[in-house]
Amino acid sequence: MKKAYITTPIYYVNDVAHIGHAYTTIIADTLARFKRLQGYDTYFMTGTDEHGQKIEQAAQQRGKTPKEYADEISGKFKKLWDDFEISYDHFIRTTDEEHILTAQNAFLKMYEKGDIYKGEYEGFYCVSCETFFTQTQLLENNCCPDCGKPTNIVKEESYFFRLSKYQDAILDWYEKNEQSVLPKGKKNEVVSFVKGGLKDLSITRTSFDWGIKLPKQINDEKHVMYVWLDALVNYLTTLGYSRDNKRMDFWDNAIHLVGKDILRFHAVYWPAFLLSLDLPLPKSVAAHGWWTRDGQKMSKSKGNVVNPKEVADAYGLENFRYFLLREVPFGQDGDFSQKAIIDRINSELNNGLGNLLNRIIGMSGKYTNFEIQSKDLVKFYNQELQEANEYIQNAIANLENIMPNRYLEEIWKIVSLANGVIAKYEPWQLIKDSKQDEANALVALCANLLTKVAILLNPCMPKTTQKIADALGFIIDTKSYQDIILENKIIDYTTKKTEPLFTRIEEELMKKDTQTQEQQTQKEKEDDSISIDDFSKLVIKVGEVLECERVEGSEKLLKFQIDLGEEKPRQILSGIAKYYEPSELIGKQVCVLANLKERKIMKQISQGMILSAEDGKLTLLTTHAKVKNGAIIG
Ligand code: MSP
Repeated sequence: MKKAYITTPIYYVNDVAHIGHAYTTIIADTLARFKRLQGYDTYFMTGTDEHGQKIEQAAQQRGKTPKEYADEISGKFKKLWDDFEISYDHFIRTTDEEHILTAQNAFLKMYEKGDIYKGEYEGFYCVSCETFFTQTQLLENNCCPDCGKPTNIVKEESYFFRLSKYQDAILDWYEKNEQSVLPKGKKNEVVSFVKGGLKDLSITRTSFDWGIKLPKQINDEKHVMYVWLDALVNYLTTLGYSRDNKRMDFWDNAIHLVGKDILRFHAVYWPAFLLSLDLPLPKSVAAHGWWTRDGQKMSKSKGNVVNPKEVADAYGLENFRYFLLREVPFGQDGDFSQKAIIDRINSELNNGLGNLLNRIIGMSGKYTNFEIQSKDLVKFYNQELQEANEYIQNAIANLENIMPNRYLEEIWKIVSLANGVIAKYEPWQLIKDSKQDEANALVALCANLLTKVAILLNPCMPKTTQKIADALGFIIDTKSYQDIILENKIIDYTTKKTEPLFTRIEEELMKKDTQTQEQQTQKEKEDDSISIDDFSKLVIKVGEVLECERVEGSEKLLKFQIDLGEEKPRQILSGIAKYYEPSELIGKQVCVLANLKERKIMKQISQGMILSAEDGKLTLLTTHAKVKNGAIIG
């Protein structure tokens, strides 16, 4: 039996799921269901990415161990996918024992092959993106080119992977395999990135612990694996790689769904690791765009992050799935708004699909006592059947090329065709003109077209299409896909009255909703309390004063050099000159807001804020007992 392996990215556990995660997962789920329908033996995995500095920091800020924190958030992801009835076969956690072992086995294999060597890394690291950068790649003030947050300077002993060695082989893969990276536009970006030259990649860290240790054979305790190496290997862990290899036969047809922000890791680093492991490369890495909300970038600070569960509860899970899959051309960015989802539900689902089912049941009840015979269908309406067939071919090709929006567009051409023939041939008129056979054949045409629609739409909207199948009395499975979609088989029906598939969402309701939302936002504005998420954005650290002096020309300012446990001390200016003598502060520990944007005060750079309490005068904050420089306060 043909095999297919579908993966989502494994999600970081530093935060709960949002619409972007739901989007990737729902596309992957649709593909997995489609492959099953086509008769592939399909394995579909998702899971959580739990190591790395970002997770360690998020846990610390909440006073939890990284594992406790990961358990909590990973559980929430899993629950959400279960609530969404995502048809995954395996939910992996990178803290699973079997994953730790697989990552170590893979590391050892690459090391023994001579693709990993020890050196020293010196450069910049963005904790938020878990990515290394060179100075020339950074934005102003050494900020990360991907997320805009400040990067850290890192200088540490590190193992490197010989990425440069695989440059030509990767380019060759892109060239020889049209579907290697999808969509095409994204592939072009990756090709020019690789053609620009690949540098060897630092793949271990020593400055924190929350990661997978190197294999024992390498005997180097202080290193943990770079989180991206650890994470990518998860796709092999799931298949039993280097353990029992039980499911490795799925590997030949692997499709990785990813967002555009993580394409480079999947389309450049991952193939290089696989080549080093002597494994075949995936069939496709398919990258989608990003969602905005009402035209704006989503962010926690703006409070406009779309919660997928809320949307699914408000509009129906399957309507939400349809919206996500249909709204945006795959690969491009898309915008979520209430109006957009309501428009799709009202016009395409309710007026288009729902109405078609009602009309078929209505006509069959009225004209043929709920029996639909297709014997004269080809005789009267062969042209329409041929037309539908073309749409079907296009639809399938589109989904094979991971373009779910265009898949649905083609399916909806069949919906429109079916609704259109009713208006065009007017069955009531045919009956009046005593053309009973033609009228029956017309109802049969609509029923057969709707059957094709329901089978093709099943991976996108499993329950809705099941309702259609129940109402018309047919089965959706691999056999019916083969017979009805691929071989154009025509069937007869016994129909049943059924509840409408969709309910129209009235504009009024929408207005009310928007009003309550506005009221809510207003209320939120008036309430100045912050959430734990807001608090967790602050990085407050303990640091030791190495130097302190007055700033010339200012009565208020002292200039500090403070050791925050980082590679270089930070220079920070603070308005406490009236209350302290510089010399008495040297050697003292203070608390510093460390992720404040760098700013200039009296022409001098200040890289943070020293915290003090105010009660008429300013008193510096410190800890109850001495702690290591750089300790996080939270
Ligand atoms: N842990 C890594 C993936 C490792 S895979 C070996 C990671 N995790 S993530 O949780 O940050 O992101 C997971 C996915 O969510 C990515 O595919 C990303 O593109 C997607 N999205 C995050 N924000 C998004 C939007 N606003 N819109 C659409 N998708 C976005 O990266």
